[in-house]
Amino acid sequence: MIATYNDTVASGWHNGAGVVYRPLAAALLAACPVELSGAAVLDAGSGTGAVASLAAAAGATVVAADLSPLMLAARPPGQWPAVVADVLALPFARGTFDAAIAAFLINHLDPETALRALAATLRPGGAVVASTWATGTDPVKAAVDAILVDHGWRPPAWYQDMKAVLDPVSGDPDRLAERARGAGLIDVEVWMHAENLGVRDPRAVVTYRLATPQFASWAHTLDEAVRRRLVDLAATAVAPQVCEWRPAAVFLRGRTPGYPRPRRSATRANASR
Ligand SMILES: C[S@@+](CC[C@H](N)C(=O)[O-])C[C@H]1O[C@@H](n2cnc3c(N)ncnc32)[C@H](O)[C@@H]1O
Repeated sequence: MIATYNDTVASGWHNGAGVVYRPLAAALLAACPVELSGAAVLDAGSGTGAVASLAAAAGATVVAADLSPLMLAARPPGQWPAVVADVLALPFARGTFDAAIAAFLINHLDPETALRALAATLRPGGAVVASTWATGTDPVKAAVDAILVDHGWRPPAWYQDMKAVLDPVSGDPDRLAERARGAGLIDVEVWMHAENLGVRDPRAVVTYRLATPQFASWAHTLDEAVRRRLVDLAATAVAPQVCEWRPAAVFLRGRTPGYPRPRRSATRANASR
């Protein structure tokens, strides 16, 4: 079972979830070992284009790919082309891209298979750069989720599977690094990235949470008064922690064997948990 990136998720992603995903897209791009200016870049699992817009602004020639036409259609106007495609069956020949960036995509899939598919689009020495969520409990997300459970939310089957089966691998730096090497990547580095995203408004954190696919369709069915009360309660619950919030992600980079090597010396904008 896969996550449902339907119309409800698509329409709330950029403004709702983007508060969290956009700064993390910027941090992920900063870790890309390939010089973005002039590079051919694939934004895989692009969604509404958090990575694509920044890469294009940095001078890359970007192609976005996503399984959900609704997510792609909800992207703000931009100059990059987009294709509806499963990352496991990408319509691109080897050597098409200098870098493949996948922000919070491979946590939805068997990571080794997904990384191999991304690598198969690259030139020799090209870079794969990816982010996932770290395993473990995030106190801010947990505080919101507890209120949602109190109001009747129950995890959908795909989400339970993701937490039980995929997260223990994709959210663990050592295990993810092993899968990246198994996918044929070399010079693999995987590290925790826990950055203060600068979100100060507790309601923005609740809105982000409600915009994610495990909650969005359920939240959409709520009576407006119930939804407002739920947002009030959840915002009050997270308010003391929001300014210090550093959601823990896992960042990965590696490259395909062969030459030429990446054209930029790597920067590793890191932050501890
Ligand atoms: C968590 S969202 C991240 C979106 C975007 N990268 C960002 O950071 O805002 C995951 C995205 O991956 C897409 N996706 C999930 N499975 C996919 C697959 N097998 N192939 C391509 N895209 C996929 C979803 O449709 C969704 O847009």
